[in-house]
Amino acid sequence: MRHTIRLTIALLMLLTVGGMVSGQDSPLYLDASAPIEDRVEDLLGRMSLEEKVGQMTLIEKGSIQPDAVTEYYIGGVLSGGGGYPSSGNTPERWYEMVTAYQDAALATPLAIPLIYGVDAIHGHNNLRGATIYPHNIGLGAANDADLVRRIAQATAEDMLATGIHWNYAPVLAVPQDYRWGRTYEGYSGDPDIVTRLALAFLDGLQGDDLSADDTVVGTPKHFVGDGGVVWGTGMDGMLDRGDTRGDEDTLREIHLTPYVDLIEGGARSIMVSFSSWQGVKMHARGDLITDWLKDEMGFDGFVVSDWQAIDEIPGNYYSDVVTSVNAGVDMNMVPYNYIQYTDALIQAVENGDVTEARIDDAVRRILRVKFELGLFENPYGDPALIDTIGSDEKRELAREAVQKSAVLLQNINDALPLSADVSRVFIAGEGADDVGIQSGGWTIEWQGLSGNITDGTTILDGLEAAFGEDTEVIYNRFGRYRGAENEDGSLQRGEVGIVVLSEPPYAEMQGDRPSLQFEEGQLVTLERVRERVDKLIVIIISGRPMSLGDIPQQADAMVAAWLPGSEGAAIADVLFGEVPFNGKLSFAWHMNDAALPVDPAATEVDCEAIRYPLGYGLQVDTAPDAQILPDHCE
Ligand code: BGC
Ligand code: BGC
Repeated sequence: MRHTIRLTIALLMLLTVGGMVSGQDSPLYLDASAPIEDRVEDLLGRMSLEEKVGQMTLIEKGSIQPDAVTEYYIGGVLSGGGGYPSSGNTPERWYEMVTAYQDAALATPLAIPLIYGVDAIHGHNNLRGATIYPHNIGLGAANDADLVRRIAQATAEDMLATGIHWNYAPVLAVPQDYRWGRTYEGYSGDPDIVTRLALAFLDGLQGDDLSADDTVVGTPKHFVGDGGVVWGTGMDGMLDRGDTRGDEDTLREIHLTPYVDLIEGGARSIMVSFSSWQGVKMHARGDLITDWLKDEMGFDGFVVSDWQAIDEIPGNYYSDVVTSVNAGVDMNMVPYNYIQYTDALIQAVENGDVTEARIDDAVRRILRVKFELGLFENPYGDPALIDTIGSDEKRELAREAVQKSAVLLQNINDALPLSADVSRVFIAGEGADDVGIQSGGWTIEWQGLSGNITDGTTILDGLEAAFGEDTEVIYNRFGRYRGAENEDGSLQRGEVGIVVLSEPPYAEMQGDRPSLQFEEGQLVTLERVRERVDKLIVIIISGRPMSLGDIPQQADAMVAAWLPGSEGAAIADVLFGEVPFNGKLSFAWHMNDAALPVDPAATEVDCEAIRYPLGYGLQVDTAPDAQILPDHCE
């Protein structure tokens, strides 16, 4: 009897890799006190080629079931834009979904945890009910590193509540052409502001100790030159995924600068850009990914591809895999067909087109970060944090961000601050009362969506609360105020009109535009309100500086509110002077469409090109002669 038991135990130990069942013989890689590099080598030494290739594979959750994660040893799963659980967009369903994948990864023989990723670029923005912060362009205008750090911390908390440890942020793009639909994802056209704020964001996500339970890993993106794409070289003859030109010095000075500091500041994963540099797709550029990023800059974390981006490299799928892995891509966001990818990569190793040394290097980098993150010790996040999602504290933080990011562009005729003591106010614009529009792209859905898409307050909510009880606040999206006529048929007038001009929500690919003028209909709305009111305040909801035409001539005051996110009501705080305006343009504002592209870091007015320079932003008491008014250039 004793014998049989011993034999069974011995057999079990043989069968179980490294004798994991027995406490004493627990493999080194599971020893949290062992040095990380030793753990990496120990684990790597136990892995088959299939297991290694699995670590290098990142799949969108819509394309994989948990059992396939076990079968293919998948190293990473993500939710793309709009990738909420099909069972329901609640924190509980998110946690269950992510946990099911994690359990499947832990059911592999070596029990290597997977890393689950998401684009939480302005809050945990795919999750309904999570606080949505202003997009980066607004945070650039606020230019408050501490604020950005706190937003990142709050975002990490929301992610961990749903079991997620990996954020595809911050964006380090230094956008050069505002017709690009990703302009708002960039903090600034000035690389120094980008660096400063992105560092703060990374710091907020990762803390001092990445292995702590309250941290997630960030992913500076998109390496490198994503913001430099040239008009006409991208999709549909526009910008996105296009070609960045110019010489090496320009690439280094403008686009590479932030990476240098972010790597020093602890970046552990970096995403490659869809774009090309000098005509060659970034995912094929070993000279930049391996030679610059890894060798010259000393990056020893892992490089992740962008979404199906290797497919854009010329050649067939097999050659795309070979080229990108050899260029230095460590984990590939496949994102649909893991069988095709893992087969191709295994084949490439067997054919000698990718060396085992390259595979080991990639896997080492991925495992290193998983160990550093403490995933082997706590792979699950913390569902107890679900209670903090959308909390008052987070909403308050978002309000602060909205207040600080608003830029006052013009203020004449004492239009601002608003007084509660007025008898009638006309408000218009669909963006005045729409959480979806004010949040922009990457909110619940990939491209965003107008309407009541998540919890939040609108600009109109804030105004209605701030005006006194005796003020008649009249709102119509199109400025058609039926019944607002006097007995003699003339239009009723108000002391104040507030028109919100807005861009519809958009994200990458779909947000490129040949013209940055507002649609004609919105300008007609503006005219309708103008003729009824003494003072007209224009609020601009946009992901970039817009071509203003004669809006400055029509408006008394103009405020750039960017894409403020879920707490739109906070716009009223600055309009009423409860909180001073503090925002300063982090992108120079161009004169008109014809001037595009302009130097986004221009610090001087230039009547051919620049209407408001970088750093411009008024206080309510700035005297008119100290403002840049519309007649300035005449
Ligand atoms: C975007 C990335 C994003 C990824 C995953 C890509 O299309 O370019 O910024 O991280 O999708 O959603
Ligand atoms: C996904 C996004 C991704 C995009 C790229 C979408 O279907 O939801 O996350 O960035 O595809 O093409």
